[in-house]
Amino acid sequence: MAERTPSFDLSGYTIPTHVAIIMDGNGRWARQRGLPRQAGHRAGAENLRRIINACVEFRIKILTIYAFSTENWGRPELEVRGLMKIISRVIDQELKDLHAQGVCLHHLGSMTGIDPGLQEKVRRALELTKNNDRLILNVAFNYGGRAEILEAVKHILADNVAPEELTEALFSSYLFTRGLPDPDLVIRTSGELRISNFLIWQAAYSEFYPTPVYWPDFGREELYEAILVFNQRERRFGLVTEP
Ligand code: FPP
Repeated sequence: MAERTPSFDLSGYTIPTHVAIIMDGNGRWARQRGLPRQAGHRAGAENLRRIINACVEFRIKILTIYAFSTENWGRPELEVRGLMKIISRVIDQELKDLHAQGVCLHHLGSMTGIDPGLQEKVRRALELTKNNDRLILNVAFNYGGRAEILEAVKHILADNVAPEELTEALFSSYLFTRGLPDPDLVIRTSGELRISNFLIWQAAYSEFYPTPVYWPDFGREELYEAILVFNQRERRFGLVTEP
């Protein structure tokens, strides 16, 4: 008999609108099993499918994932090529289902340096899914928070925005996440306690949830647990709650 998936009741809980994840620990997950790093990245990519399904189930509206940072180019060439191959394969294999599921893909980052064939694949994926509204999936790919801020500043200068016109809201509209609310919850797997150049403007007031679990093992149950912990947090945004 097929095993039943336990249902997680989140009624009465606040569901974070926007969850962002630093998917860390693929390499250590593989090493623990005596496998090559690429096997860890493959397991990480498979896990993404589980987490997307869980986000839809839990009615999270926006998921942002850190797939490849501007710093990741410094990894061994073989690993970089392997990661690009996985990303390309995931688009080939998952795009149809993601579209059917109502997932709208966004790209955060730059296309500079990306293989033209993969650039084209990404563009087609964004175009195909642009009107979907069940879950926005922001893929931070060739992304760096500092590079994003620099790009924004360059565009603001090019647009001749006067200093007195420049507000936080206007600045945000020059970022890759324009039009989207900031993340409520930032999850980092594998026990590291760094932000690593991820959404450094947008995560100013996000709740941070570090977990020792390696990314390939961070499943639906772990996401549910993160939402429960999020509900115990008191978000003050720099204010006080006492009268
Ligand atoms: C960090 O683990 C993970 C990455 C740099 C890559 C994340 C990529 C995937 C999960 C592949 C799939 C992505 C998409 C969008 C299809 P690490 O290698 O730094 O692990 P370690 O710290 O244990 O070495």
